[in-house]
Amino acid sequence: MRIDLITLFPEVMTPYLSASILGRAQAADVVEIHTHQLRDFSSDPHQKVDDRPFGGGPGMVLSCQPIVDAVEAIERLDARPALRILPSPQGFSFTQQVAHEWTACERLLIICGHYEGIDERVVELLQPTEVSLGDFVMTSGELPALAMVDAVVRLLPGALGNEASTLSESFQGDRLEYPHYTRPREYRGLSVPEVLLSGNHAEIEGWRREASECRTRERRPDLLPDHKSYASSASCLPSASAAAGRWTSACSSNVARSAYGRAVQAIG
Ligand SMILES: C[S@@+](CC[C@H](N)C(=O)[O-])C[C@H]1O[C@@H](n2cnc3c(N)ncnc32)[C@H](O)[C@@H]1O
Repeated sequence: MRIDLITLFPEVMTPYLSASILGRAQAADVVEIHTHQLRDFSSDPHQKVDDRPFGGGPGMVLSCQPIVDAVEAIERLDARPALRILPSPQGFSFTQQVAHEWTACERLLIICGHYEGIDERVVELLQPTEVSLGDFVMTSGELPALAMVDAVVRLLPGALGNEASTLSESFQGDRLEYPHYTRPREYRGLSVPEVLLSGNHAEIEGWRREASECRTRERRPDLLPDHKSYASSASCLPSASAAAGRWTSACSSNVARSAYGRAVQAIG
């Protein structure tokens, strides 16, 4: 896959793109990622890329010419067709499923907005897919673009050391992932659930399945296919097998006791 990012701030993006899994995926030729300075495509002698909005109002708007010229020039660099993406709070929601769908693309071309946004005629001319990271407004498109690139690249074959690690991850199916523990076995009086130390793979698998369902029911019942029937259950009670005490840790963080629950209570 090839990914091109059009941005006013390549220096903000480069450190993140070069680190960890994204950096290793490029070194291993799983993906090639290029950043392009939008100003380099401006026909203005001072490399101006924005102007005041027609009709008045605050802020500046990114002009058509630099963006359209940048997209056309960058697309000519490679014969493979590019999916044009415009991060925007007004787009459809970016999800794990979208990330999966984009792994099938040979090229992604992402236009990072800034200021009040971009001239609407860019959208009419280039017809990019407008995608939102969530119902909030950020200063510019760099962070949303990085989040999208990261979520896609880690799904590409060869990007992770262990491909299996994506299979049980949150949102892969209709569940959140189970909780993780590592050494030491006990920390400040908190123990790792006994079953995880048992070496019994079937039991561990069962615990993880249960913990995953339990956590989903507590935090994101909307993900479950039959979520309406869970709607009234505020906390996640241990299943019948909890008699053995093994499931307690998996289900210990009900909504009221979670950091999220405490925050909601504090707000009142
Ligand atoms: C300040 S925002 C513009 C917001 C726009 N005036 C509005 O109210 O819809 C500037 C740029 O940040 C990016 N951006 C901000 N919030 C975003 C979000 N939730 N998802 C994706 N991109 C976002 C977009 O690229 C956008 O063009």
